[in-house]
Amino acid sequence: MSYTAIVGLQWGDEGKGKVIDYLARDYDVVVRFQGGANAGHSVYADGKSFVFHLIPSGMLWEDVVGVIGPGVVIDPEAFVKEISDLEKTVGDLKGRLFVDPRAHIVMPYHRQEDALFEASSDKPIGTTKKGIGPTNRDRYGRLGIRVGDTLRRDYLREHLRRPYDFNKRVVESYGGVMPPFEEIYEYLLEFGERISPYVADGVLLLEEMERKGARILLEGAQGTYLDLNFGTYPYVTSSHPISGGATIGAGIPPWKINRVIGVFKIYTTRVGEGPFPTEEKGELGDRLRELGGEYGATTGRPRRCGWLDIPMVVYASLVNGVTDLFATKMDVLDRVGTYKAAVGYRLNGRELSFPPAYSADWYGLEPVYEEFESGEGILLEVERRTGVAVTFVSVGKEREAVIERKRR
Ligand code: IMP
Repeated sequence: MSYTAIVGLQWGDEGKGKVIDYLARDYDVVVRFQGGANAGHSVYADGKSFVFHLIPSGMLWEDVVGVIGPGVVIDPEAFVKEISDLEKTVGDLKGRLFVDPRAHIVMPYHRQEDALFEASSDKPIGTTKKGIGPTNRDRYGRLGIRVGDTLRRDYLREHLRRPYDFNKRVVESYGGVMPPFEEIYEYLLEFGERISPYVADGVLLLEEMERKGARILLEGAQGTYLDLNFGTYPYVTSSHPISGGATIGAGIPPWKINRVIGVFKIYTTRVGEGPFPTEEKGELGDRLRELGGEYGATTGRPRRCGWLDIPMVVYASLVNGVTDLFATKMDVLDRVGTYKAAVGYRLNGRELSFPPAYSADWYGLEPVYEEFESGEGILLEVERRTGVAVTFVSVGKEREAVIERKRR
């Protein structure tokens, strides 16, 4: 049994795209299990940059099979475009890329609602406006349309009515205009036709590959502090980026996951609103942003930047059951030349060693900092606190710029 999950231990953008591409050479299959086109996983290979939104990041390797599980939400336009773009580089993806018929579809009205709701709110979340939240709301509200439905004309017509009527009310309540029912129905049928060669039951596919001895990577998007339960609620995404999310998002029994690699950046970034105790709003934040190229891979938004928050990484390692750690962007911190990290917090005069489980308490946290001699010093402190080895360190955007610190 060889399932390895890759998860982010911060607010996403830890460099998971590069990590997956790096590790995928030793794997046969990469599975996306949650999130949607809000993710932007960057890979730099052979002098070219690629950004994966929905397609699993390891697919630049010719032999790697990609599977998109039911936990993912599929934006039809983004998906079709991503397939066409990637096929220009790696050739036909049919027979190598699969999407589970149970994955939910981001409908045009979900994108509309995300944008309208964010614009009308005095406390926006700062979403990517890709319609992810409304799609997952409809998933839980039993109002979702799934990839498989687009391949069954009569069923689709019958079952689109309820979600359509509900969402029409929502769109109109924000002053938006809902496209006609027939237009949406035709749009979905057209999408179904385009993607039918890629649709397959992911559970059976993985079972078959597993039987042949395949090594399987589970690709998490976003990060632990954007998790719907364990993140800085309500400033989170609407899925479960933690290792447990892989079991429900791809249909994998928990005991089969025998390795969990937690990825953390050696400083911290965040896009969107919400608390960020170690944020540096001044010159230092700007310096990290420029040196690290910290702009959203999906939205282009400048990322908020600050020091590494070790308690966050330690707590996230617990939630995910991390077995190895992968640190990224050490070259950027080396260029900054200061090796500072939070090792605890103060809250109303009390000392805390872990981030709080109370949303309100995040706002009063004062980080307690320590300055280390080198990046290595920070890594040793993270290892001491987590009891887990930092096996890999990324020191540049190129594929090969990874130091294997420990034996795998
Ligand atoms: P949503 O996922 O678009 O609903 O956005 C919810 C929050 O998650 C916002 O703060 C986004 O900026 C953040 N977010 C969503 N996807 C990513 C990602 O891939 N990287 C970093 N932040 C993300």
